[in-house]
Amino acid sequence: MNYIQIKNLSKRYFDVNALENINIKISKGSLFGLLGPNGAGKTTLLKILATLISPDDGKVEINEIDLVKKPRQIRELIGYVAQEISLDKILTGRELLDFQADLYHIPKTKKLQRIQDLIIKLDMEDWIDRKCGTYSGGMKRRIDLAAGLLHLPKVLILDEPTVGLDIESRNIIWDLLKNLKDDGMTIILSSHYLNEIDYLADTVVIINDGKVIDQGNPNYLKSKLGGERISLKVREFSSPEESEKVKEILNKIDGIRQIVINSAQGYSLNFIAEKEKDFLTKLKVELAFSKFEIFSLTQSQPSLDDVYLQATGKTLQDAEIFMAGKRDLKKESKQSMR
Ligand SMILES: Nc1ncnc2c1ncn2[C@@H]1O[C@H](COP(=O)(O)OP(=O)(O)OP(=O)(O)O)[C@@H](O)[C@H]1O
Ligand SMILES: [Mg+2]
Repeated sequence: MNYIQIKNLSKRYFDVNALENINIKISKGSLFGLLGPNGAGKTTLLKILATLISPDDGKVEINEIDLVKKPRQIRELIGYVAQEISLDKILTGRELLDFQADLYHIPKTKKLQRIQDLIIKLDMEDWIDRKCGTYSGGMKRRIDLAAGLLHLPKVLILDEPTVGLDIESRNIIWDLLKNLKDDGMTIILSSHYLNEIDYLADTVVIINDGKVIDQGNPNYLKSKLGGERISLKVREFSSPEESEKVKEILNKIDGIRQIVINSAQGYSLNFIAEKEKDFLTKLKVELAFSKFEIFSLTQSQPSLDDVYLQATGKTLQDAEIFMAGKRDLKKESKQSMR
């Protein structure tokens, strides 16, 4: 059953199309991963789901409740953990959770038990009575996550919950998310860590520049590529013209398919080679025929990054570097404060 349905969703910020005609279905009790580089539109989508900003177009339903028409009902269903953490510095973690529980109108009889449960689940006993101002990034994240879980939401929305965290905090969060899912919670998580999505998600949607470029089970997406992933260079840094010539040669070889020129990696050529065909001998011969040599050749099993590269012509990391140069973060934070 599709518990969450997102139909033709669009959102613009002035001249930026942050989301364009997004269609996503999420089933109940699943862990849904949203993968994309900086500026892809992940936070925008999650903020819409959390009813913090409204879409320009399209429709979202959670449990058949229209999100734009009935935001209050939606808010009872969801817990949201934002990308930026802004904790009060003076309160202790316990006081903060207590205060948060009161905001959610959680009855006194249940409040203390629920806070205690979360302190144990997130391994916070040692420092929960210290002031939040003294917490590390991992501690803050855990408090933040606990605050989002206090009212026992049916849907938990997390925006990059483990970014920059130490391994211990990350593992505690990953374990908790797995347990919550086993208990039937629907979890939506954004990330630009491929391994996080690979490990946790039942379904992943890859977004780039506000558009969905692929979706499905991570293993399915990888197996769709099939074969072995090869990255070939005929020189450390080729020119675009040279790589086009090599691409033509590769095109003629049986057993090589889906050739992409990776402009960010010295115009290397990435492709998939069928396992059973001996392409290497042929490749050497054909390259030599056109006076090219193999400078480097790396082989690997397809990863989610290959899925991404196949769809966009860039690796996720390169896409991030590219986007970082385009964004005006000062302007954005000013606009979001309006
Ligand atoms: N308040 C705003 N005003 C103007 N443009 C914005 C605003 N918020 C986001 N944008 C733009 O919308 C696009 C999507 O941004 P969004 O924050 O949703 O991306 P993201 O995938 O969460 O990125 P990151 O991984 O860096 O958190 C980007 O091009 C961004 O520059
Ligand atoms: Mg974001």
